[in-house]
Amino acid sequence: MLGIAQVLYPQVLAPTTVFGITFPNTVGLAAGFDKNATHIDDFAALGFGFLEVGTLTPRPQPGNPRPRVFRLVEEQALLNRFGFNNVGIVEAVKNIRRSCYRGVLGVNIGKNADTPIENAVEDYRCCLRESLEVASYITLNVSSPNTVGLRSLQAAESLKKLLSELYEERERLLGASSRKVPILIKLAPDLEKEELAEIVQALLQAGGEGVIATNTTMSRKDFLGTRWESEAGGISGAPLKPLAMQAFSQVASLLQGRIPLVASGGIMSGEDGREFMAHGASLCQVYTGFIYRGPSLIAEVVRACERRIPQNHQT
Ligand code: FNR
Repeated sequence: MLGIAQVLYPQVLAPTTVFGITFPNTVGLAAGFDKNATHIDDFAALGFGFLEVGTLTPRPQPGNPRPRVFRLVEEQALLNRFGFNNVGIVEAVKNIRRSCYRGVLGVNIGKNADTPIENAVEDYRCCLRESLEVASYITLNVSSPNTVGLRSLQAAESLKKLLSELYEERERLLGASSRKVPILIKLAPDLEKEELAEIVQALLQAGGEGVIATNTTMSRKDFLGTRWESEAGGISGAPLKPLAMQAFSQVASLLQGRIPLVASGGIMSGEDGREFMAHGASLCQVYTGFIYRGPSLIAEVVRACERRIPQNHQT
């Protein structure tokens, strides 16, 4: 039986194949909304082409003290410092198994706040092991500003080590199975040009399979002199878009289509989505735009992005 959401927001079909996975449309729910995978069926009914749950960590953790999320309504932005509050990967996988959803599901993983950064790989390995069976793809979140030290994992050498160890673990678990579960890296928008060049080089050397650009920003350049200047956390939504677009297009031009790119950061309208597609995105994700615009944003972005998917990113 169709739910009310499916009647009001039927999924707009614009199928595309990226990383060898067929997506019913190009617009996904970004990580951090359904952190514990408790609302997969509800979000699916709103017409998303794919969903990304998490960030999940090996052990449950409460995240940062409240308040930890703020609406900046005039700026069409959010500031958050949740700090990976989640029920832990094992419980989240149970939630995924309980859902009826059979569409494309990304599982976004990270490290516990009290895991020393030098042991971070173990946390990612544990989360990959627990979720591989239920994930269509896995995202390594190495870019949240709200877990101390996390972003240092974006350094070229750390990234290569992280990827090679996780590829090895995936290989060990999938063995001879024909199943493919790509591993994506989610990057910050606050990286310098030189850092991005080193990261892309490292990704190419490590056999990188996909990139999500970008996470929230630490930059306060649009908020100098306001209360948000000194409020800790990452900013998303409209003010993020120019920074996300800059990092995204730099990565796109360095990658030259060799690895598919997922756009995230300030997609508040169909036109924003279309712009990222024109700069080389194969897929896009929304979070803050979905908060302010509601589910109608999904179909608007899908329609604006149709027939804009670069052919060299199709498989
Ligand atoms: C996020 N984001 C996020 N990303 C991630 O990889 N893991 C996470 O747990 C979270 N949590 C989270 C919470 C909140 C309240 C927000 C607003 C954002 C980042 C999110 O997935 C997305 O990449 C950015 O917000 C940029 O996209 P938008 O919001 O500008 O569309």
